[in-house]
Amino acid sequence: MRAVGANRIEVLHGVNLDMLGKRDPAHYGTLTLIELEVRIRHWARDLGLEATFFQTNDEARFVERLHQAPETADALILNPGAWTHYSWAIRDALEIAGLPTVEVHISDVSAREEFRRHSVISDLDLVIQTVSGRGADGYQEALETLGRELGVDVPPAA
Ligand code: DQA
Repeated sequence: MRAVGANRIEVLHGVNLDMLGKRDPAHYGTLTLIELEVRIRHWARDLGLEATFFQTNDEARFVERLHQAPETADALILNPGAWTHYSWAIRDALEIAGLPTVEVHISDVSAREEFRRHSVISDLDLVIQTVSGRGADGYQEALETLGRELGVDVPPAA
């Protein structure tokens, strides 16, 4: 059972996501990471959620942040970047964290190179939803899913 008032969402951005705004706009749009985070924070507030953010290009730091997550967050939004496709260490750390999680990819990973089609975390035991190819709006969808999961009063999905 979730604690009453649980509304803290930690958004974890992995490798190369600090380069948003400089990456191929056909896949990633034109928002910088800071601009994306401002949007996410507003969407979260509108839903009665509180978003915090973390980005690193260091896999060990990402894993350590996942270890600490249960102390500071009620749910997670994870975009591990390229680690998605091969980091069993991140998969294991996510399992240890044991928090409700939505996996988000800005680009449509299913319609790109073969190596992007496999995610080591897209496992229904680990993530309650994977959102891919919806650009920044994918994070709003993830927030709505987690809000419902936490029992926050979110309008039903359209
Ligand atoms: C990504 C997709 C990954 O394949 C890629 O390596 C990224 C970003 C996305 O958000 O679309 O860095 O996770």
